[in-house]
Amino acid sequence: MGRFYIDGGRCLEGTLRIQGGKNAVLPILAATVLNGDVSYIQDCPRILDVFTMIRILESIGCKVRWDDKTFMIDSSSVDSYKIPEELVREMRSSIILLGSVLGRHKKVIISYPGGCPLGPRPIDLHIKALKQLGASIKEEHGFIICEAPKLVGAKIHLDFPSVGATENIMLAAVLAEGTTEIHNAAKEPEIKDLQDFLNGMGAKIKGASSDVITIEGVKSLHQVEHKVIPDRIVTGTYLAAAAITGGEVLLTNVNPNHIQAINSKLKEAGCRIIEEKDRIYLKAPKKLKNIDIIRTQPYPGFPTDMQAQMMAMLTVASGASIITETVFESRYKHVDELIRMGANITLEGRTAIIKGVGHLTGTNVYAKDLRGGAALIIAGLVAEGVTIVDGAKHIERGYEQIDKDLNILGASIRKD
Ligand code: EPZ
Repeated sequence: MGRFYIDGGRCLEGTLRIQGGKNAVLPILAATVLNGDVSYIQDCPRILDVFTMIRILESIGCKVRWDDKTFMIDSSSVDSYKIPEELVREMRSSIILLGSVLGRHKKVIISYPGGCPLGPRPIDLHIKALKQLGASIKEEHGFIICEAPKLVGAKIHLDFPSVGATENIMLAAVLAEGTTEIHNAAKEPEIKDLQDFLNGMGAKIKGASSDVITIEGVKSLHQVEHKVIPDRIVTGTYLAAAAITGGEVLLTNVNPNHIQAINSKLKEAGCRIIEEKDRIYLKAPKKLKNIDIIRTQPYPGFPTDMQAQMMAMLTVASGASIITETVFESRYKHVDELIRMGANITLEGRTAIIKGVGHLTGTNVYAKDLRGGAALIIAGLVAEGVTIVDGAKHIERGYEQIDKDLNILGASIRKD
């Protein structure tokens, strides 16, 4: 599974460019199935989840080539609507192919998704919405069989602003007959990036980033070229890493508008932050202050994908901090590992109480999911001695080169 070895006690300083967004590029890769043509995607992060998605696209007939970070996907010869089970199990976000393969083929067979163990990951909102668009959906032996002789636009209200459900509806509605409205849509920046990508291939979508997204069905789509937005969670992760080490960093290829909730909490912890058009500067205090409360919420609230990293940062702040995880049922698998490093954390249901301690101690810990793994690396940056983080593969699903990146900023990390 691979391990990271972190020598703690070094202060992060310097400049680093942020990778393209994982959660932006995955639905965009799924969307390349729709145009039956070539799509050029720039600044695509070279991470495991992207390579898994590429393998899935190739398995249904797409031709994929890439040089450095520009990926070319040709979906003209897509000839299958059955998504390979073993690849779906590897990555939950492959469920996003439901909407795009259905939109292209009017049929899709896919197994229930796997991915991060963040508690139950239902897809009831996806299923209910696709049925409203005219799809008939059966679930047999762990597979979802979805067919729609014709997809017809509908007015859909999401019970919860689900990111994946919003994306699947957009993908299925682009080639549907008539107009689709998504009410209570997710407002994450990745939804806007998907809208821009789809409009670039000839779709007619508006309203992304607001509560209501309108998709006017079109007959056909064409070639597109698109640059993926920066990864706001990788940005936040590196800001938290600099903060815990008392560091001073400049991150480039950043959209400060996408990380306002994160910046607000880092400032509350005593960090000085300067935002410019496409970069962000952070100078940490000698000792971080506690944060009274962090409640994760759908965008523009505080992102659940930064919960673990902020918790790690707060383990050595002065005073007690509270975190409540409202988006996922069990996203605290990193807590036991942080406690093994000397953190003082108490869990009460979805709420964690973090009491700052004088220091952490390096030891063997296990990454059980992507962001929890990043949190353990952050803790290892200040822990006394060497921290060994097992389960590197989880972390490499979303971070292109977290060891090289942090070493550029002065950390001492190696991977075996
Ligand atoms: C996306 O997951 C992201 N993944 C997640 O990032 C992120 O944590 C999440 O959005 C929330 O922001 C990608 O974009 C690839 P949801 P998604 O549907 O689409 C419940 C990371 O670390 N729900 O908004 O799966 C669900 O159980 C990953 O990069 C239903 O109940 O998130 C969860 O509690 C982790 N029924 C909540 O909604 C449904 O049909 C949020 O899920 C769908 C979701």
